Amino acid sequence: MPVTLFDDGNHKCIAFTDLVEGNGIQANQFLIVNRGEGMLLDPGGNLTYKHLLAEIAKFTLPAHTRYIFASHQDPDIVASANGWLLITDAKIVIAQEWTRFIPHFCLKGLTEGRMIAIPPHGMNLELGQGVLKLIPAHFLHTVGNFQVYDPISKILFSGDVGASLVDAQAAGLAVEDFDAHAAAGHMEAFHRRYMCSNKACRLWVQMVRRLDVEWIVPQHGGSFKGKAMVNRFLDWFENLECGTDLLTEADFRIP
Ligand SMILES: [Fe+2]
Ligand SMILES: [Fe+2]
Repeated sequence: MPVTLFDDGNHKCIAFTDLVEGNGIQANQFLIVNRGEGMLLDPGGNLTYKHLLAEIAKFTLPAHTRYIFASHQDPDIVASANGWLLITDAKIVIAQEWTRFIPHFCLKGLTEGRMIAIPPHGMNLELGQGVLKLIPAHFLHTVGNFQVYDPISKILFSGDVGASLVDAQAAGLAVEDFDAHAAAGHMEAFHRRYMCSNKACRLWVQMVRRLDVEWIVPQHGGSFKGKAMVNRFLDWFENLECGTDLLTEADFRIP
């Protein structure tokens, strides 16, 4: 079932948390609609494509999708690029670093004139009568990585930052017990391995603290709702040792 995160009549944010079936990692897909114009966030790959197409039709005409936003280049993010380019006039919005990798998911020539390259410092993107902020989250976890901050709903769609590995039901819910969630949802283990370094975490947290964020909604698992829980997450992430911080000689032994 789709989850309505925000709806003021003109502007809607919808989450789809239960579309992945089989062995694929649980993933959340999102739709933002402003006055009929849509943006899909991290729509996923083949496992979600046809279900997501059916689901978004309940909220907007799929043909009115203006953008396909991809936080980064992973298969669970944007492997369905070909399908969306075929059935809409949407443009794919992705970090400059990845624009020449997306054509590998698509029929020859299909991406021509259909890519918007996000520069390293990010950009504002108009949707309907609103403006979304594409903010940097480089190395969290890939080089050239962006998130969407929506100033209307005050939701930060954080991509893999804040991700946890839970079932589809729990993914639609806001986290209630932060410590239990960090351990049980493998959030800590995931971030220690997938996020590049504490330096990137700290710089990102400094930037996010300057935004008015009411809700951090990741691409996997549950979300962090309300200022207190948002701050709980930011404090945790700011102090997390991960990625290259944890490397030792033992990680580079010849098998
Ligand atoms: Fe990823
Ligand atoms: Fe992911």
